[in-house]
Amino acid sequence: MKAWTLVAAIAAVAAAPAAAGAQTVKVGIVNTYSGPFAEPGTLMDRGIKLYMKLHEKDLPPGVKIELIRRDDTGPKPDVAKRLAQELIARDHVQLLAGVVYTPNALAIAPLVTEAKVPFVIMNAGTASITTKSPYIARVSFTLWQSSYPLGQWAAKHDIKTAYTAVSDYGPGWDAEQGFIKGFTAAGGKIVGSVRIPLENPDFTPYLQKARDAKPNALFVFVPAGEQAIALMKTFGDLGMRSAGVKLIGPGDITTDEGLQAMGKVAVGVTTMMHYSAAAKRPANVAFVRAYKQEFGQDQEPAFEVVGGYDGMAAIFHVVEAQHGKIDPDKTMALLKGWKYDSPRGPIEIDPQTRDIIQNEYLRRVEGVHGKLENVEIETIPMVKDPWKALGIGK
Ligand code: PHB
Repeated sequence: MKAWTLVAAIAAVAAAPAAAGAQTVKVGIVNTYSGPFAEPGTLMDRGIKLYMKLHEKDLPPGVKIELIRRDDTGPKPDVAKRLAQELIARDHVQLLAGVVYTPNALAIAPLVTEAKVPFVIMNAGTASITTKSPYIARVSFTLWQSSYPLGQWAAKHDIKTAYTAVSDYGPGWDAEQGFIKGFTAAGGKIVGSVRIPLENPDFTPYLQKARDAKPNALFVFVPAGEQAIALMKTFGDLGMRSAGVKLIGPGDITTDEGLQAMGKVAVGVTTMMHYSAAAKRPANVAFVRAYKQEFGQDQEPAFEVVGGYDGMAAIFHVVEAQHGKIDPDKTMALLKGWKYDSPRGPIEIDPQTRDIIQNEYLRRVEGVHGKLENVEIETIPMVKDPWKALGIGK
């Protein structure tokens, strides 16, 4: 018997009596709470907390949700795998959720297949993740979902040449390939591509190379948080805008939370993303108000917050529908086709792929009433992950 099979078997036996009597649903959250990669995780956790605070009272009488949080400390698949294993085998969680970083989600996928524990991805955005287990559903996004339509848009809006610079791991490769596919199919030309190490990157030599290639646009993906702020600073320090280079990318590079720290250099940066705190949709206005009330009037919710919030909405949906008695296959059936009026707009879990279908917004950073905002200027409605829709992974 493989070591993990044994763990799964023990977990199944140990979990049975608890599930029979109690109405408390244990949800394991694997998330990044410490280290240089923690910013997105801290934001995701705020989304989880806010949803719990606003909606705990709506659970059926006697039904409770207990969250068990674990810190994977960054893109560290071995740590994430060990934590997920412990949550399943020792804590007997009925659901798993969270995960900012792709390598961690990929490391957990085989465990949830083996143990039949539904796993709600609240951030990690590499397209292939949902294909790695039938027990995965994703409420966040894929990098293809933003970068492919951005490529199409750029080619149609006076950007003839582009240079790509991405973090050298799953979501970076997807962003690069998605952008190049959309851009070149619509007539754009790629004049150079670089991949930047994920750990401790020094952006200067990479951006300098891009500047020397004199593209109309520099397309960038780096993980949201500290790296995005550092990248923007380097773009400014190298005088790239005055050299005629436009900065574009998925919204990870201008998160609502990081915008004020980025300062004036961010103005005019154009991104494609599924969420902007500046959106005037009623569900978003209410969400932003509740967020500020909870975390401070100077705080703006970023897309990671919405990932945690909507992920909890999905979890509440399956818990309520089953009155707290979680059956893994029924849970997955309930997640497939689930629809929700999110702060980001209408969302749906694709019944075929278990991946999210959502609007993408073309946004431009502008100064509004003395602060920077990602102002939505175009909507591309209900985008399915293009990597799957175009059959790229087949
Ligand atoms: C990921 O690792 O999948 C990831 C992390 C941060 C982002 C986007 C994707 O901003």
